[in-house]
Amino acid sequence: MQAVTIKQYGGPEELQLTEIDRPKIATDEVLVAVRATSINPIDWKARQGLLKGMYDWQFPVVLGWDVAGVITAVGSDVKKFKVGDAVFARPDIYTDGRRGTYAEYAAVKEDKLALKPAELSFEQAAALPLAGLTAYQVIHDQLKIQAGERVLIQAGAGGVGLIAIQLAKYFGATVATTASPNHAALLKQLGADEVIDYHTTAIQDVLHDYDAVFDTINAVDDGLAILKPAGRLVTIDGQLTAAQKAQSQAVSTWWLQPNGRELAILGDLVVQGQVKVVIDQVLPFSTAGLQQAHRDSEASHSAGKIIIRVS
Ligand SMILES: NC(=O)c1ccc[n+]([C@@H]2O[C@H](COP(=O)([O-])OP(=O)(O)OC[C@H]3O[C@@H](n4cnc5c(N)ncnc54)[C@H](OP(=O)(O)O)[C@@H]3O)[C@@H](O)[C@H]2O)c1
Repeated sequence: MQAVTIKQYGGPEELQLTEIDRPKIATDEVLVAVRATSINPIDWKARQGLLKGMYDWQFPVVLGWDVAGVITAVGSDVKKFKVGDAVFARPDIYTDGRRGTYAEYAAVKEDKLALKPAELSFEQAAALPLAGLTAYQVIHDQLKIQAGERVLIQAGAGGVGLIAIQLAKYFGATVATTASPNHAALLKQLGADEVIDYHTTAIQDVLHDYDAVFDTINAVDDGLAILKPAGRLVTIDGQLTAAQKAQSQAVSTWWLQPNGRELAILGDLVVQGQVKVVIDQVLPFSTAGLQQAHRDSEASHSAGKIIIRVS
């Protein structure tokens, strides 16, 4: 099959269309013919070699951890899915480094899969798993946002931030967010009550006594400064210092747990119109397409997701 792989860690030019073997599925996995995948910052961080300490991958490595496509084979233990089902998922990160989603086929464990609602295109479905599950797990499972609370969501125009804003509004919160001025109208349209231009304004100057902070930009001290003494903060970007852990507020880090059940809930919220999927651009499945996608994601000013249309 064709896959876009890297043969060593480095810049976007390392991404090259390559012929490799299709993944072989285990008994609890399905094989998905990939119709679309999307880019997340972990992709270019991995490409740069920043995950070396966590994964001892063998080259060539296939990056990419969002998939939407159609099942072409099922393992003998798979109960809930069948050949022909349209599905989406954030697959596991496999230790061999060969099973990313910049590929024509991807292997996915059954418990990571959700059926793709017919109302969503493959591109929209591919935008949801990694960023959407992260937003859902932080807003719903970790921060446990309640109606009437005030929450700050950093980097509102990012893949995670856009979904997190809409989920926090869905759960009844008042939402402040940070963004560049060109994204303010979009974020207000999606429900943000206050959009702070982080280029000109420090959040500490305008926000006080917040119940919760969702940190996506490794600015934990800034977040702590606007929280109530009993407030909560979760960061998905960076490690906490001893001083930050010693604060009166509840401060923690979160790493996404792929989960098909929660992904299905997110898909339903999109179908109900409670969450809109924002796509920054759709690029082709090619050496040039993936290189461009990584450059744009790394520049960190996209609004929503960068999608790769695979077939
Ligand atoms: N721990 C986990 O499990 C997990 C899961 C997902 C993501 N992450 C991490 O979370 C971070 C965000 O992910 P993402 O997918 O949302 O990224 P993304 O889509 O690439 O975010 C891009 C957005 O970041 C905004 N931005 C950049 N610098 C900013 C700043 N200083 N203040 C406010 N906004 C800023 C930009 O907004 P403007 O153009 O408006 O400036 C842009 O829209 C990444 O570091 C990613 O690796 C962690």
